[in-house]
Amino acid sequence: MAIERLQKILAQAGVASRRAAEQFILDGRVKVNGSVVRELGSKANLDTDRIEVQGHGTLKGQPLVYIAMHKPANVVTTVDDPEGRMTVMSVLGMSRAIGPRQHEGDLPRVYPVGRLDYDAEGLLLLTNDGDLANAMLHPKTHVPKTYVVKIKGKPEARALERLKRGVHLREEDGSVSRVTSPAEVRILKESPANAWLELVIIEGRHHQVKRMLEAVGHRVLRLIRTDFGSITLEPLPTGGWRFLTNAEIAALKSWNPGSAHKAKRPRPARSDKPLSAKPHGDKPVRGKPSRAEKPSRGSKPARTDRRTGSVAGPKRLRAR
Ligand code: URA
Repeated sequence: MAIERLQKILAQAGVASRRAAEQFILDGRVKVNGSVVRELGSKANLDTDRIEVQGHGTLKGQPLVYIAMHKPANVVTTVDDPEGRMTVMSVLGMSRAIGPRQHEGDLPRVYPVGRLDYDAEGLLLLTNDGDLANAMLHPKTHVPKTYVVKIKGKPEARALERLKRGVHLREEDGSVSRVTSPAEVRILKESPANAWLELVIIEGRHHQVKRMLEAVGHRVLRLIRTDFGSITLEPLPTGGWRFLTNAEIAALKSWNPGSAHKAKRPRPARSDKPLSAKPHGDKPVRGKPSRAEKPSRGSKPARTDRRTGSVAGPKRLRAR
């Protein structure tokens, strides 16, 4: 390994994200060759320097791992949860990787690349490659994320046009945010009461899909991320995970804004393949409380969980 900035070494070793690693350094929790280093520009070599991080011991060069998970609903996208809810880390620990192993031995500590809401399902990437995670989440990277969304009511053509052009999102303090970037939207299925849409967005704002739909008057009942850039959810079963292939990792690493639409897989004709995730009724998705909506009598109010949010890419999930 070459000489690198300390925060990069920590992030690549899976200690924490690069930003959190910077805080570790500032807090004096990192020693290089026995001396505490607090300067953010400091460099070291993991092969020749002894790097110790309080609470993590001495770092060894960790292999980088890249994982795709089918996050179930009602799982929190954090490493641990003070409320004791099931986390994506417990999902990871509950089963073995599906398909070829890219990594032997114990799995290094990995972190979610962005978030999916507590009630949201679908594709979540996890890695200990802090650089890649940061690049994927950078607003300028414009990785397209595809969502299949069940909404209450049938959207009018005008609502779909507004979603495509961009809408202003309501912030928690009541203010109105800047307009969202243009999105791709199409109806997968409609009934008098509900519709299933496919939405492709290139941003990853907090609760973005729910807030976009709310802005055009529709409540989200179910939210499934099916694609993140060129990585797809299928054929992972709910709760299953796999290692990304070398080609998938290379595609993510070479991502640039210009590749956003080129790299999307060609959209197959609409098909009626079965949904790989089971719907759980028509209750509104509760990761984000709708401001317009009051909880129904007797039901718990929707909970705002600031730590569960969103980031990700088509899926032939059949709308039911
Ligand atoms: N948009 C949302 O509203 N929630 C998610 O989890 C992802 C995108």
